[in-house]
Amino acid sequence: MPKGVTVWLTGLSGAGKSTIAHALQANAESRGRLVEILDGDIVRENLSRGLGFSKEDRDTNIRRIAFVSHLLTRHGAFVIVAAISPYAGVRNEAREMIGDFVEVHVDCSIDVLTARDTKGLYAKALTGEIKNFTGISDPYEAPTSPELVVSTAREDVAQSVGRIERYLEANGYINTD
Ligand code: ADX
Repeated sequence: MPKGVTVWLTGLSGAGKSTIAHALQANAESRGRLVEILDGDIVRENLSRGLGFSKEDRDTNIRRIAFVSHLLTRHGAFVIVAAISPYAGVRNEAREMIGDFVEVHVDCSIDVLTARDTKGLYAKALTGEIKNFTGISDPYEAPTSPELVVSTAREDVAQSVGRIERYLEANGYINTD
């Protein structure tokens, strides 16, 4: 049985983290892994209910996600985190705690995200209706040495997921047979 692992998807809102998470989940399940997704939008409705978007609250949110990921990963689960996780410091804390940690930067330019604006949040961030919006009026610290970078403006979901799977196979996190 392959080792537990956390695939940590970090990137701006709307970049495609949840879409990639669900496609990766389907593929990993079809290959016999037990998969759990920890998605920022959903975690914020329960485990992190009441937290806002200050640095302190975001770091608390990410520490909670990392703690649960750590518990699941050490019991052999295949965990996928999909959260903006804008601060490098707390992402590195998660890496240290979890150990079997594959950081994937889900990269997409602000121009493309603003044009897509699937949730209508960028328009509101640009007018100031939503404050402290990551990438517009709040920082995003891109990972400096992630295991992988996927570009959702340049590759489709299948290509991104395929590259993540190949990395996981090469590192013993998914069986190749
Ligand atoms: S994180 O910064 O703490 O990692 P998380 O991934 O959980 O963020 O939640 C991000 C989601 O919250 C976004 O996809 C968006 O739907 C919503 N959101 C609401 N306000 C903001 C904001 N100010 N900045 C970023 N996302 C926001």
